[in-house]
Amino acid sequence: MAERKCIGVILGSIREGRINDRVAFWVIRQLEGHGFATRTIDPADPDLMPVQMGDAAAIKTLRQRMADLDGFVIVTPEYNHAEPGHLKTLIDNVTAEWWARPVGLIGYGGISGGLRALEALRIILAELHTVTLRDTVSFVSPWRKFDEVGHLTDPHDAAAAEAAMAVFAHRLDWWVEALAHARHARPYHPENE
Ligand SMILES: Cc1cc2nc3c(=O)[nH]c(=O)nc-3n(C[C@H](O)[C@H](O)[C@H](O)COP(=O)(O)O)c2cc1C
Repeated sequence: MAERKCIGVILGSIREGRINDRVAFWVIRQLEGHGFATRTIDPADPDLMPVQMGDAAAIKTLRQRMADLDGFVIVTPEYNHAEPGHLKTLIDNVTAEWWARPVGLIGYGGISGGLRALEALRIILAELHTVTLRDTVSFVSPWRKFDEVGHLTDPHDAAAAEAAMAVFAHRLDWWVEALAHARHARPYHPENE
């Protein structure tokens, strides 16, 4: 059996009592249901929190956890029309691990469903040589929709989100394969050629 493609699922919030866990649980289950393996990368993980202060050992741990992944999915809330600062710092502390990798964006928040944070992330992630998926999945007021373990309680919400996720997972798989072939065929960085 072919090895499953492994996706790093990066959380955006470090807030105690965050909704992020519920949405991420759902995303992880969906990705695994679509045949991916996942590795969670949580900025609130005690091993990764010192990344925020530029701690070299924590940055090394982060880079090791992000190495050799086939792609990434960022699951983030929106705060004041942008991604949380801790997520930005985590993103900024990694370089080559991003290069020529696909990144899918899943957001949540108030009325905007996190969409402005996702669009802001596209500019940052382009600078890091990633390809962001055009398709996103977003949730308005997820605190009303998800239970503690990340199940959508309303069947109509669940069906709509699963349909959006099916398209998202297909596109993610497409970019994972396309970019893996491209990286294998030719080094991305000119110095390696
Ligand atoms: C200071 C603050 C600013 C916020 N700004 C926005 C916003 O601009 N757009 C939005 O959709 N939601 C906004 N929200 C709602 C958050 O996205 C929501 O509380 C979400 O659950 C936060 O994620 P977390 O619980 O995982 O930390 C804001 C919340 C706070 C506390």
